[in-house]
Amino acid sequence: MDAKCYILVLILSLHSVIVTFCDDSVDDIVLDTAVQRKAPGLKAPKKLWWAKEITPDYHVAGRLSERQIKYAADGGFKSIVSLFHYDEPLLYGGGEYLPSSKEEEEIVKSAGMQFYKVGLAGLHDKWASVETVEHISRILPTLEKPILLHCNRGYTISFVTLMHMANRTRHDPSFTPKISSGNFYNITAAMGIDFTMENTKQVVAEITGEEVVKNPPRLNAEPELWKIYWKAHPVYKNWFTAGQIRDTDLKVLEEVGFKAVVNMRQGVETDGKPSQEQVTLINIKDGTPTYGDENSLPRQVPEELERLILDPSKPKGYGSENLNYETSNPGEFGDEIGYNEDLEKEAFEKSTLKYYHIPIDSNGKYSPELFGKYKDMLLEAGRNGPVLVHCASAKRVAYMSVLASAVQYNKDFNWALKRIRELGFYVSPTKQPDVYEMFAAWLKKDRSNETGHLEL
Ligand SMILES: *[C@@H]1O[C@H](CO)[C@@H](O)[C@H](O)[C@H]1NC(C)=O
Ligand SMILES: *[C@@H]1O[C@H](CO)[C@@H](O)[C@H](O)[C@H]1NC(C)=O
Ligand SMILES: *[C@@H]1O[C@H](CO)[C@@H](O)[C@H](O)[C@H]1NC(C)=O
Repeated sequence: MDAKCYILVLILSLHSVIVTFCDDSVDDIVLDTAVQRKAPGLKAPKKLWWAKEITPDYHVAGRLSERQIKYAADGGFKSIVSLFHYDEPLLYGGGEYLPSSKEEEEIVKSAGMQFYKVGLAGLHDKWASVETVEHISRILPTLEKPILLHCNRGYTISFVTLMHMANRTRHDPSFTPKISSGNFYNITAAMGIDFTMENTKQVVAEITGEEVVKNPPRLNAEPELWKIYWKAHPVYKNWFTAGQIRDTDLKVLEEVGFKAVVNMRQGVETDGKPSQEQVTLINIKDGTPTYGDENSLPRQVPEELERLILDPSKPKGYGSENLNYETSNPGEFGDEIGYNEDLEKEAFEKSTLKYYHIPIDSNGKYSPELFGKYKDMLLEAGRNGPVLVHCASAKRVAYMSVLASAVQYNKDFNWALKRIRELGFYVSPTKQPDVYEMFAAWLKKDRSNETGHLEL
């Protein structure tokens, strides 16, 4: 680990002040994850923010739409594993088409990935069984990695994947990361999922060869049903983060019991200047400038899109009609220019969810003042029940939501550092120092005179 003392150079108007300080706790933080996760989403975080990393090779998810499967290929997944068999398609949120297993297999192959179906019949099948773990253990080594493994809600597949790793830990001394039953319960609690039922505890004990754990930690995510909206990342209690949501998600969020959504993407205009962010498009490179620059045309004009194709060998019709790429994404509130926050706001007006807009520049710096400006709004949202805070790739919102939940529930600085790292964003004095400083100013007791945050 790095040296524990470091130098922070502060430039205050004309004066340079060098402050040296030590913090013993910084590098001793033990995470409740199998590895230090990376920011979600492999090579396409805006497309794949919902894929939960267990290890770099294994990511888990719920039941996928055609778009999500194609995004998985765009972002670098090589294989998809489905734990269940689906005879029929399903309309998620009453509107988003989730293919049957047969259709899924075709889409996965057309996207150029390997597909494997374990084929359990449903939730009443014996998913929490040694046989299912054995089945997964047999096939995982045969598939190209990284693998996106899914079930309905990212729940059962997390159990099976972690139990596979626990079995390897038991039988192969060189296997890493090591998963004991203690790790298993801590990791799943941190993921907001609960396997503390008697039957799952028995299977955990059988596979690890350890005693049944008496009082494992339990998830603290509220409501427990949040996993119907499995794409969200639980932060703490009623705080959840997400990347760009879809129009059809609003209904699901209402059903699950969310009360508010905070959108941290930029609006159509900022200070009188156009400021639309980008939408994601199938088989199109992410993150190029919305309005173009000296090297590019506006992102969504046909000539520019042709230049941004990820895989030119994809067949016609793979994206928009007659094209192998997509030209617009109205389901994620896109117009012909980019992401249009006005459209999202309108959708919320027709729902029971309270909508807050806190525009944050994704290229900007974080600071104690930035959080201070929005603290009251965030705490109002947080005090009214489950709140989903979203941006494009779940990054901006991770920084802001970890801090907001820490302030609401009197969690300390080390908790915030642990939690943000568990979500895949490493914050330290040298990595994301601006976020580190924002957390420190609001959460360190001896600095509460700066922020007026005296509750701690
Ligand atoms: C655990 O690993 C051993 C040794 O590789 C294997 O024989 C066994 O089937 C595995 N069990 C499960 C539940 O995967
Ligand atoms: C699980 O979490 C508890 C509480 O934070 C901690 O005391 C324990 O050491 C952790 N176990 C493992 C194996 O990490
Ligand atoms: C806050 O308190 C610290 C330590 O007591 C002091 O050094 C610092 O100047 C104070 N800052 C403000 C803004 O009052």
